[in-house]
Amino acid sequence: MKICVYPGSFDPVTNGHLDIIDRAAKLCDKLIVAVLINSNKNPAFSLEERVGLLERVLKDRENVVVESFSGLLIDFVKKKNACSIVKGLRAVSDFEFELQMALLNKNLDPEVETLFMMTNINYFFLSSSAVKELAKNNGNIEGLVPECIREDIISRFMKK
Ligand code: PNS
Repeated sequence: MKICVYPGSFDPVTNGHLDIIDRAAKLCDKLIVAVLINSNKNPAFSLEERVGLLERVLKDRENVVVESFSGLLIDFVKKKNACSIVKGLRAVSDFEFELQMALLNKNLDPEVETLFMMTNINYFFLSSSAVKELAKNNGNIEGLVPECIREDIISRFMKK
């Protein structure tokens, strides 16, 4: 069984992430969307909330599961018997960081490949940070996040 891992913070999941998930899920038997338990960042949504939003968005995708991980990504990938890490690439500015991560992970385990997928042109400008900035300032996030979680995102920032 070919298992791939798509890691990220998903704070929150956007339509850009969803596009990569759907395209990557076609290339493997099982795609694990792996949510980082990140103590360094200060996420707007707790781990449980980020996982919960993803699970709601992905509930009808048969070969996609949501899990969380801490520590090194490569250790999680090996524990899950996955063969590849999937990453989305947007602007050239993503490239340097992602190249470093891919080479670090390759150095840690040469058997695991990092596969890069170019963003859908419609989501070139989209990031979780941009969604949060818009939501905080009453900007329109329609079309940028899955419809079934749009109100959750808006209401999170309305409270503050
Ligand atoms: O959505 P993000 O925040 O850009 O995702 C970043 C993520 C989770 C892919 C990256 O931070 C990561 O892989 N973290 C796990 C720690 C790790 O393995 N680092 C690489 C070797 S130093």
